[in-house]
Amino acid sequence: MAPLYFLIVYLLCASATTLDFKSVFEWNSFEFNWTSEDSREKAVKDGRYKPEKIEPRFLALHEGKIFLSLSKQNGVPATLVWLSTDASSTSPTLNPYPSWPNQQEKTNCDKIVSARGIEVDTIGRLWALDDGSEEDCSPKLVIFNLTKNSVELSHLFPDSTVSLSFSCRYLVVFSLREKKSWRVEAQKIRSNAIALSPMNRRRHLYLSGSDRRDLSTVSIPEIRAGEKNLSLTSVGNTTGLTNRMIMDERGNLYFDLSLKSVVWWDTNRPFNKEQIYEEGRSNRPLLFAFDTNGNLWLMAQFTDQTPKSRLSRAAIGVKNYLYNASIDSSGTSKYVNGKKHQDLLVLNIILSIWNVFNLISTAFQIYWFHRMKKWQDSIAETETEGDQIFRPSAILPNKPPEPIYEEIDSAPYSSMQNTIVKSKM
Ligand SMILES: *[C@@H]1O[C@H](CO)[C@@H](O)[C@H](O)[C@H]1NC(C)=O
Ligand SMILES: *[C@@H]1O[C@H](CO)[C@@H](O)[C@H](O)[C@H]1NC(C)=O
Ligand SMILES: *[C@@H]1O[C@H](CO)[C@@H](O)[C@H](O)[C@H]1NC(C)=O
Ligand SMILES: *[C@@H]1O[C@H](CO)[C@@H](O)[C@H](O)[C@H]1NC(C)=O
Ligand SMILES: *[C@@H]1O[C@H](CO)[C@@H](O)[C@H](O)[C@H]1NC(C)=O
Repeated sequence: MAPLYFLIVYLLCASATTLDFKSVFEWNSFEFNWTSEDSREKAVKDGRYKPEKIEPRFLALHEGKIFLSLSKQNGVPATLVWLSTDASSTSPTLNPYPSWPNQQEKTNCDKIVSARGIEVDTIGRLWALDDGSEEDCSPKLVIFNLTKNSVELSHLFPDSTVSLSFSCRYLVVFSLREKKSWRVEAQKIRSNAIALSPMNRRRHLYLSGSDRRDLSTVSIPEIRAGEKNLSLTSVGNTTGLTNRMIMDERGNLYFDLSLKSVVWWDTNRPFNKEQIYEEGRSNRPLLFAFDTNGNLWLMAQFTDQTPKSRLSRAAIGVKNYLYNASIDSSGTSKYVNGKKHQDLLVLNIILSIWNVFNLISTAFQIYWFHRMKKWQDSIAETETEGDQIFRPSAILPNKPPEPIYEEIDSAPYSSMQNTIVKSKM
């Protein structure tokens, strides 16, 4: 009996610890799939392309395609890109999505200007949030048909939904049926990442704290009712700050801690986290997403070692929260969501515009520092290239000096995120 006993214990332990992630692709530096060597050279010469500036921010998958949004910086020629899951190279090139011309005209607000949160729904649409640009393009939501690779809907957020004011704590809800977005204000909401309960038990929106190490929930019915004063319930204290969260169809919540590890918690049970991935040397956000074949994909990024980025995959046997897992009599999970679920036509999206309000609060701080420093008549002047992610000039009459800006933005990954989650209303 003893050997059997130990075997069982061993198996239980093995299943409770880190998942078996297998490296799929690795990059020392990212390269675009240019239309010609000439166009690459020209882009390098113009300063439109600086390979070292490419930094993936969000990850999504759909039938053999891996989508990435890249942080908008000078030298990044396209912020929404894709590559094939079965690329023959171990470091595949990035293809702009949907195509080059769509992203090259800097001043055309109809195009993707600065992609952030991305998500693929169950009927083959890519939902992408676009920050717009500080000069003149409003933030928007763009929905692509992934069969035709064309824009199906582009929703500009009105000022009343996403405004550049100091009232900076709100969620943004988008109704696909009504093609309308609105704001749900909340006391004390401040978060880096959000996730929704699975489709068949849609009760909560989960939020990670942006300055506190805890997870909290708000009720979906309250959000739907447009409740002005949402109440947050603390559901668990973690040991690190969380930048990304995803939910699977069975109600397991996956989130990262302090850029170093990914843990999961079965939200059907009391709070308890188990580590599924550890990356001691990572110093960029860990990106993770499900495909529809039951794999969890994860991208780790490093600044001080090679490879600079690694994309790996673990077979885990579940899909994301948009699918409807049902447990059949044999106790195994199966997917009941057909590809063409009519209910998805009334899919609603709750968008977290955290980057917008973080931007606003940062802008406020910048403004304050600016005033203070001016007051003391001692503004430091250093030649530093500013991080282009915040847009202080859109809010402030005078652009603050870059060094102050840099100083405020000392922990960029703990305070900026923009996630899409979907809610069926
Ligand atoms: C690069 O782009 C060309 C033309 O769009 C395409 O045929 C080719 O498959 C792409 N290569 C990769 C590796 O994605
Ligand atoms: C995408 O386009 C194809 C081809 O026109 C169409 O059959 C399909 O229904 C569209 N998908 C969605 C989700 O609208
Ligand atoms: C999800 O499954 C539950 C029961 O398993 C069912 O009642 C519900 O209608 C399903 N929802 C969708 C969107 O498929
Ligand atoms: C919001 O609700 C909390 C209790 O849930 C209450 O303490 C607080 O005063 C309310 N704030 C406003 C502005 O109504
Ligand atoms: C987490 O910690 C905070 C303060 O440290 C506390 O108010 C909160 O109740 C805790 N949450 C849980 C679920 O224990």
